[in-house]
Amino acid sequence: MSKDDHGREIDYLRISVTDRCNLRCLYCMPEDGVVWKAHELILTIEEIERLVRIAASEGFSRIRLTGGEPLVRLGIVDLVRSVVETPGIESVAMTTNGLLLPQMAEQLKQAGLQRVNISLDTLDAEQFTYITRRGKIEDVFAGIDAALDAGFNPVKINAVVVRSLNQDLLAFARLSMDRPLHVRFIEYMPVGDSCGSAGTGWTEADTIPNDELVTMLNERALAAGIGQLQPLSKTNAPKGWGPAQYYQFEGAKGTVGFISALSRHFCSECNRLRVTAEGQLRPCLFSDVEYDLKTALRAGDDDSVRDTIRKALKTKPDSHHNRVGTERLMSQIGG
Ligand code: GTP
Ligand code: 5AD
Ligand code: SF4
Repeated sequence: MSKDDHGREIDYLRISVTDRCNLRCLYCMPEDGVVWKAHELILTIEEIERLVRIAASEGFSRIRLTGGEPLVRLGIVDLVRSVVETPGIESVAMTTNGLLLPQMAEQLKQAGLQRVNISLDTLDAEQFTYITRRGKIEDVFAGIDAALDAGFNPVKINAVVVRSLNQDLLAFARLSMDRPLHVRFIEYMPVGDSCGSAGTGWTEADTIPNDELVTMLNERALAAGIGQLQPLSKTNAPKGWGPAQYYQFEGAKGTVGFISALSRHFCSECNRLRVTAEGQLRPCLFSDVEYDLKTALRAGDDDSVRDTIRKALKTKPDSHHNRVGTERLMSQIGG
């Protein structure tokens, strides 16, 4: 197990496998302003595999593949398989927009992927097309069905909550009732200046603090006769490595989680490093300090990759002092 200089055990690596996506969510990418990184700037599948082998030997045992949209990356199923088979890797998960799951869920499961988190910010078809600038909500619903049918467990739904979007939160919470779906409300983070707050017009005032959200939801749930959210202990919560706190309605098959990205600093429990699609190792989501893994990987010897990982661990900040506004887009960091 790797420890950073603040005594935190860091064993979770989030790897963005592409900056490309088949959607253009307002808060994540400009409509047509992203110049996709040229292929040679992005880590190759072989480089990612090698990176995972070295990271595993440094104590990383949990890998999440992110994007952009990881399923648009050519060779993703083979990558999943080889990451799963890497000695020392205990578990592999993915965060996806779900669009390609109907075609791919079964293969991904066969390849050994254990969990999927599916991003879906609204249950309203029109609002979905507005937020994603092009998507059809039925395709995500089909992706969720495919994930459950393929036997992924748990299947989580990530919903970024934005005050001015006025999403129907109770409808979301109800998704947890009849099927084993784990709906997670994420506080909107105004980061990635070029399209975040600047592109959407959303600011920190659009972040609904999770305490307010729990109160709001409970009022609506009570009025609708489905009772109140009951907090779940860590042992009863769905499997996960992230900072979500979980609740459940009585009799529900799934749960409702909250990710307090802004209102509650979970830095003291942080267990992760991030790798951008361009192969930059990022100690903190909210800091643009990055270490050049790609050059280390291309230099050819494992020791310089190892040194880069150790340097990132050594300088991982104890908390995010400077959280609003980073240079990179979320699509390049992978959330
Ligand atoms: P589980 O392993 O299922 O718990 O997943 P996860 O929450 O680690 O990953 P996911 O990719 O589903 O991320 C969900 C949300 O949490 C995204 O909006 C992320 O940006 C946010 N998130 C993940 N890690 C961090 C973090 O270190 N800091 C902050 N502030 N937000 C994070
Ligand atoms: N604030 C909160 N969550 C975000 N995500 C992307 N951008 C933001 C943001 N600005 C979420 C996506 C996806 C996860 C990887 O990160 O919706 O579920
Ligand atoms: Fe694509 Fe996810 Fe970004 Fe939306 S949030 S544009 S689905 S990477």
